[in-house]
Amino acid sequence: MQLFLDTANIDEIRQGAELGVISGVTTNPSLAAQEGIGAAAGYRAAVQEIADIIDGPISVEVVSTDAAGMIAEGRDIAEWIPNPWVKIPSTAEGFKAIAALARDGIRVNQTLVFSVNQALLGANAGSTVVSPFVGRLDDIGQDGIALVADIVAVYQKQNVATQVMAASIRGPRHCVLAAQAGAPISTIPYNVLTQMIKHPLTDAGLARFLQDWQQASGG
Ligand code: G3P
Repeated sequence: MQLFLDTANIDEIRQGAELGVISGVTTNPSLAAQEGIGAAAGYRAAVQEIADIIDGPISVEVVSTDAAGMIAEGRDIAEWIPNPWVKIPSTAEGFKAIAALARDGIRVNQTLVFSVNQALLGANAGSTVVSPFVGRLDDIGQDGIALVADIVAVYQKQNVATQVMAASIRGPRHCVLAAQAGAPISTIPYNVLTQMIKHPLTDAGLARFLQDWQQASGG
């Protein structure tokens, strides 16, 4: 399972890139706003900086709600960086935009996916990936990972080329469950990435190795 970083924070992206385990980045208007990025020009500059750090797909979300606006924004975003995935929401207008952008050869990350049916529609419209929001379904008492598993199973059964990117990942356990469910990609916040690394037995084991080595070396 590939890991993408779900952030617009440049320091986090730099640190994630240094680890050598990150294949792409996803952003959205909320994540951009958290970094003080507002207007389209600011978003473009930030996305270009991200693309200089990460040699993989960078997801950039449209903010229009009508198909014509989304298509225009998507075509513009597609010119910003070498490997853009335009994020389009799972709405009726969104599906029109996905189909139009896919016809142009522009890759689309279909976002705000909360049902298998939305994922089926996206596959037909030409989405490159669909992003089921795991944490937000858990938040309302539903099973977010079950949705990931259901979409993966249906896509496999139907030989669909669209890929599944588990999103709205809230903790390291979600990563394990998304991988077990067969998601080929998960996009994760930076704090989840650091949580994935840590294990107290690794720290204790390393301290013991170093202590034993020093004793044996007469230190
Ligand atoms: O990629 C979508 C994701 O950022 C949403 O996460 O935690 O806001 O539900 P969250």
